[in-house]
Amino acid sequence: MPTIQETLRAAVARLGAAHVDAPATTARLLLAKALGRSKEWLIAHSAEPLDAAIQRDFQDLLERVIAHEPLAYVLGHREFYGLDLIVDRRVLIPRPETELLADLALHELKSEALKRETAAQFSLLDVGTGSGAIPIAVAKHAPNAKLLATDVSADALAVARLNAGRHGVADRIAFVQADLLDGIATLPPVITANLPYVTRAEIEGLPPEIQAHEPRVALDGGEDGLVLVRRLLQQIADRLKTCQATSLRAAYLEIGAAQDAAALTDARRILPNAHSEIKRDLAGLDRVLAIHFSRTVNDD
Ligand SMILES: C[S@@+](CC[C@H](N)C(=O)[O-])C[C@H]1O[C@@H](n2cnc3c(N)ncnc32)[C@H](O)[C@@H]1O
Repeated sequence: MPTIQETLRAAVARLGAAHVDAPATTARLLLAKALGRSKEWLIAHSAEPLDAAIQRDFQDLLERVIAHEPLAYVLGHREFYGLDLIVDRRVLIPRPETELLADLALHELKSEALKRETAAQFSLLDVGTGSGAIPIAVAKHAPNAKLLATDVSADALAVARLNAGRHGVADRIAFVQADLLDGIATLPPVITANLPYVTRAEIEGLPPEIQAHEPRVALDGGEDGLVLVRRLLQQIADRLKTCQATSLRAAYLEIGAAQDAAALTDARRILPNAHSEIKRDLAGLDRVLAIHFSRTVNDD
């Protein structure tokens, strides 16, 4: 029977030949999953033999990664904002750059005035919540906040509810199936949205891990990538015109790194009385369209 070390060595060679990223780490993570053990345990027991059943399970996982299924789906989870989230083919795998949306939302929510104002209502609406990454991260760090999260995909909402339950915040996040703001009557102080923003042309050129495995509804941003972003901005503008009682103060929308100019132009045209700007992520890429609303704007 081959040992753990021998099995890993063979797997690393196969992953390398298939051009999978970080073959050694990937092989260890997959074998740890097959064994139901930690990576550290593997290192400490590298000379032990592996029985045939574990070998088979491990080979199955390995084949999935070699066939370009994303590692997070094969492992069944991904870390976001220090939280372990369940992910599978029903949801987009949360990306590290999206943590900026959670940061910006938390910063806004922590303003004293906002804390007082929103004690009894929803503090934040996350549009297109996917795995629930953003509202769950915010709820964990804003223990009094109540949040609303929507997605057009019932499958995605099922995963988001599971994640909220695992992190003990299910009682503070309402998950609603909706097309953007349809059916959402009032706007809370903060809106976050990481809507699909990949252009039709770009989708065809995405790596196979993304193109063939992540949900199309989570990627497709229409002709120029900003179709859903513009629709959301228009819905916000319409709500601000019709609903005097809105407490909206800020909206943070993730965009593609090359979409800054177009997104800013759209925001300034659709919401001329708000202050729109672009925020950069830690890699220095233009990543978030940030829109600030003042009371006077809302009361127009
Ligand atoms: C790029 S994914 C982001 C998921 C999650 N917010 C994150 O950051 O990991 C976009 C999400 O928007 C949802 N979505 C797409 N079109 C939508 C629409 N018209 N209304 C609401 N949600 C939509 C998709 O189902 C998907 O879950």
